[in-house]
Amino acid sequence: MVSGKFIVFEGIDGAGKTTQIDLVAKNLKEQGLQVLCTREPGGTRIGEMLRKFLLDPANGDINPRTEAFLYAADRSQHVTEVILPALEEGKIVICDRYLYSTIAYQGWGRGIDTGFLTSLNGLASDGLVPDRVILLDIDVDTGLQRALGERLPDRLEIEKNAFFQRVRQGYLEQAKLHPEIFRVIQAGADKMEVNRRVLAALDWR
Ligand code: TMP
Repeated sequence: MVSGKFIVFEGIDGAGKTTQIDLVAKNLKEQGLQVLCTREPGGTRIGEMLRKFLLDPANGDINPRTEAFLYAADRSQHVTEVILPALEEGKIVICDRYLYSTIAYQGWGRGIDTGFLTSLNGLASDGLVPDRVILLDIDVDTGLQRALGERLPDRLEIEKNAFFQRVRQGYLEQAKLHPEIFRVIQAGADKMEVNRRVLAALDWR
């Protein structure tokens, strides 16, 4: 039996997911709620190994389908080992990315058939659907500028602007397809203003 709540944050690189997840987790904990923050790829020992591989610029020769399978493998391990057990314990699970990233990046970004990816995601997630998806929407130039700052880009961040335009579009289309769980938040504003909007969007409470 799943008694907790499952919140997912999505958005292009640099949308501010990490900052907002930290702020929301703090807010929920202050209310005495049990919160678990996790991420994809990653979140498990095996997942962190896959993450290292997936983000390494040296692996630029990976085939797009192989890439999709590895993100799915990471998800399968994550759902079984971390997310479902925490939800069964009644925790609020906040996840930085989930299967919507695969549709946006591998589907809209790389051009893999989204019907195929939806089936793959269904297997990988064991059909687990979040209670809320917070889509932090930001224009691509601002997002990438924020993501990169002073550091070197990872394997996905090397992609061209047009790739991220497609990814952003892919997210917005998914939000239209699943209005019951998605909330789109304009993420270009000041971080506390964005946080106010995010908390207001957690309206299942
Ligand atoms: P991030 O967690 O630091 O945002 O980095 C993860 C990167 O992996 C990011 O560029 C998005 C990408 N990604 C996919 O392409 N497909 C996926 O299914 C997931 C979860 C992430």
